[in-house]
Amino acid sequence: MRESESGLPVEPVYGPEALAGWDPAVKLGEPGAYPFTRGVYPTMYTGRPWTMRQYAGFGTAVESNARYKQLIANGTTGLSVAFDLPTQMGHDSDAPIAHGEVGKVGVAVDSIEDMRVLFDGIPLDQVSTSMTINAPAALLLLLYQLVAEEQGVPAHMLTGTIQNDVLKEYIARGTYIFPPKPSLRLVADIFRYCRAEIPRWNTISISGYHMAEAGASPAQEIAFTLADGIEYVRTAVAAGMDVDDFAPRLSFFFVARTTILEEVAKFRAARRIWARVMREEFGARNPKSLMLRFHTQTAGVQLTAQQPEVNLVRVAVQGLAAVLGGTQSLHTNSFDEAIALPTDKSARLALRTQQVLAHETDVTATVDPFAGSYVVERMTDEVEAAALELMGKVEDLGGAVGAIERGFQKTEIERNAYRIAQETDSGERVVVGVNRFQLAEEEPYEPLRVDPAIEARQAERLAVLRAERDRRAVDAALAGVREAARGDGNLLYPLKDALQARATIGEVCDALREVWGTYSPGETW
Ligand code: 3HC
Repeated sequence: MRESESGLPVEPVYGPEALAGWDPAVKLGEPGAYPFTRGVYPTMYTGRPWTMRQYAGFGTAVESNARYKQLIANGTTGLSVAFDLPTQMGHDSDAPIAHGEVGKVGVAVDSIEDMRVLFDGIPLDQVSTSMTINAPAALLLLLYQLVAEEQGVPAHMLTGTIQNDVLKEYIARGTYIFPPKPSLRLVADIFRYCRAEIPRWNTISISGYHMAEAGASPAQEIAFTLADGIEYVRTAVAAGMDVDDFAPRLSFFFVARTTILEEVAKFRAARRIWARVMREEFGARNPKSLMLRFHTQTAGVQLTAQQPEVNLVRVAVQGLAAVLGGTQSLHTNSFDEAIALPTDKSARLALRTQQVLAHETDVTATVDPFAGSYVVERMTDEVEAAALELMGKVEDLGGAVGAIERGFQKTEIERNAYRIAQETDSGERVVVGVNRFQLAEEEPYEPLRVDPAIEARQAERLAVLRAERDRRAVDAALAGVREAARGDGNLLYPLKDALQARATIGEVCDALREVWGTYSPGETW
């Protein structure tokens, strides 16, 4: 008998006995209704397809702006900004620590000047934009708001998402800056600020994707992500917010692997668990507070550098899993992503994959096509049970933060990563082109390279900015940020003043570092 990715048994045949005692009224409900197993909207893709949101960004704002316009011209329906590592870590492009990393894994954004160029000619009242930014999430959101206001678009019209999920940075992704306590305070400040100023914005994208990339199984991925979600809800409630005032704008982010059946089960189980937790543990009343809405990215970790074109096939299968699981938004990886940044052509092909799924297959013609399937319903129950067991263990350790302090999630994920590596090494787990069906000689491939002169160009831009702006106004605004960080008022208002005065991301983050310090792994919390 085979085992699923979560280590659950998979029978060769399932029949009605697999669902003995299974009550569709309880387990499924209607699409768009509690417990949302069948999807968050009554009509799902028959009403509106998912958002095709390709993660992109590299070099300076100029190159990335051109890529976004290209993607829009090719039919993408939402934007997704990748920032370079210095921006994600709150450093300016001319900081010594940024050397060699500027514009590499995403676009370099140092100040409002770059943000203005990034969205030049893109109408921010018409497009929804996701920004993968965590520790400095508030700053990039505020820059987006400032640029939109310059375009004449009021904040209340803006739609989009910031990742803003710092807990999973400590578990799996690594771009944290501050210690957990002030980081969580900043998250709660963002929830409150958006409720008042940018009410259509999704304030967080609680992410399991990076845990999956680090080796988490499907059950671990949803368990640890939902546990992080619970921690954020508790934080905001403890800060005095009503759950229905912020929960409708929480969003999630998961991976889609090539194992379609278990992935579909995973998405359905996650929706069911979240709806129940929100209703029963937090007393949420607004149906939107109960809806687990999520973005999906196809599994980068399953792509291979060998015979990279085979990745096109893998991505199509993974994308199909996301759609059959009811995703709201999807990024399909480019086939060359295991090697380098996607080229124009590979990025277009990745988008075309989604367009084929949406317009040439029949999976969008009817809602939740797997409902009632013996195997998928059984797997949904089993993944749900496995995830709930893990969530129970996290609770026993004091919730997500308590469990992170003890290294629980990291250790569990590493154990699973080791299992996957062993199975791959032994050949028990087939990876086409890697441990079976290899080529004697790989064909040459010319990847996209980021121009190394970009770093010097960004430094020049910063020098001009620093010479031109009103230094005294910047210093006063940064003093305001420090003072607010010491107190307990909402930080976003002074942060916005500083960015408007043309303080840089690095300067604002340094002001916060001065007050809050930084976090190093292994530190007690
Ligand atoms: N019937 C009625 N209404 C419908 C509908 C239907 N069938 N389908 C959609 N709608 C409506 C929705 O209600 C919504 O309106 P509202 O905002 O007024 O409620 C509107 O249409 C838009 O639909 P969605 O909210 O479903 O879709 P969005 O695309 O706007 O939002 C999301 C999806 C998941 C909630 C959001 O958070 C999102 O877009 N996330 C993207 C996150 C992302 O791109 N992350 C990239 C990460 S990459 C990364 O981490 C890098 C690395 O390290 C790998």
